[in-house]
Amino acid sequence: MAKERILTGITTTGTPHLGNYVGAIRPSVVASKHKEVESFYFLADYHALIKCQDPAEIHRSTLEIAASWMALGLDTDNAIFYRQSDIPEIPELTWLLNCITAKGLMNRSHAYKAAVQENESANEDSDFGITMGLFSYPVLMAADILMFNAGKIPVGRDQIQHVEMARDIAQRFNHHYGEHFVLPEAVIDDNVPLLQGLDGRKMSKSYGNTIPLFLSEKQLKKSINKIKTNLLEPGEPKDPDSSTVFQVWQAFASGEQTAEMRREFASGIAWGEAKKRLFELINKELAPARQHYEELLAAPQEIESVLLTGAARARQISQPFINKLRRAVGINALA
Ligand code: TRP
Repeated sequence: MAKERILTGITTTGTPHLGNYVGAIRPSVVASKHKEVESFYFLADYHALIKCQDPAEIHRSTLEIAASWMALGLDTDNAIFYRQSDIPEIPELTWLLNCITAKGLMNRSHAYKAAVQENESANEDSDFGITMGLFSYPVLMAADILMFNAGKIPVGRDQIQHVEMARDIAQRFNHHYGEHFVLPEAVIDDNVPLLQGLDGRKMSKSYGNTIPLFLSEKQLKKSINKIKTNLLEPGEPKDPDSSTVFQVWQAFASGEQTAEMRREFASGIAWGEAKKRLFELINKELAPARQHYEELLAAPQEIESVLLTGAARARQISQPFINKLRRAVGINALA
């Protein structure tokens, strides 16, 4: 039997932060080493254009994200690691899928509905600022997934609906043109923490509350010191479960270290001391990769060559498959 295929993408906007690390990068790096599955990790740079029209930012973010994954040990010999825009079959498939996707399905997309809602609350025209890219984002994502017939799609909760839409689109295509696509399923890992940011809300670039993944030791210390705490003095017992410092600790610590920190909170550890230990814990995990990251940024040709090798491997699958799909819809040579 063919190996199971796992695929996930990361949109190339912004600088990777600790939330991306514990939520997506760290588990993907582990999974990339599994030999019993075939895994695909890619930089979703076409998706990035939907959210960001600053060319320098897109370019820089693509570099930083690729360097982060590689520095942290993504197994690019085993897993296929590529850039979406290096696979021309993806936009081609996007069009084939566009032509069988119901507009009504796209109308139900959470991301699109949220944008409309925001316009309505601001008394704007409901289409204000909404591009076709945003509207049909789930079709591009469906093409990413269906191009490689991936069955398992590890994503965050906010992406479940998109994977379900990819499944709907695949079903519709199969129904009309024959069984070409595996029906994908979202995989949500409940053990992966959703990290809180400096202000206690979910760590997210859009809230401006992130701790970037690769900072110098000095900057990392400074950033951790900005995590919001209450005014309890040293010696006063503190509640771990409402504390961002503790929540971030837990995402990096062993079970034993977490139990130990819980006791420290009960016996009134000073915030300064808790943050100092948090810095040491995070720094210990990231320091070895930090140097590799800096080296990769300084010599991006190594990253470029890994991505091109990944794209060549991916295209060994996508090229014959798109030809088969073209024939299926009636686009092929006349003689
Ligand atoms: N839309 C995803 C996100 O913003 C990224 C992504 C693009 C993706 N294509 C994908 C994830 C295909 C999984 C599969 O997080």
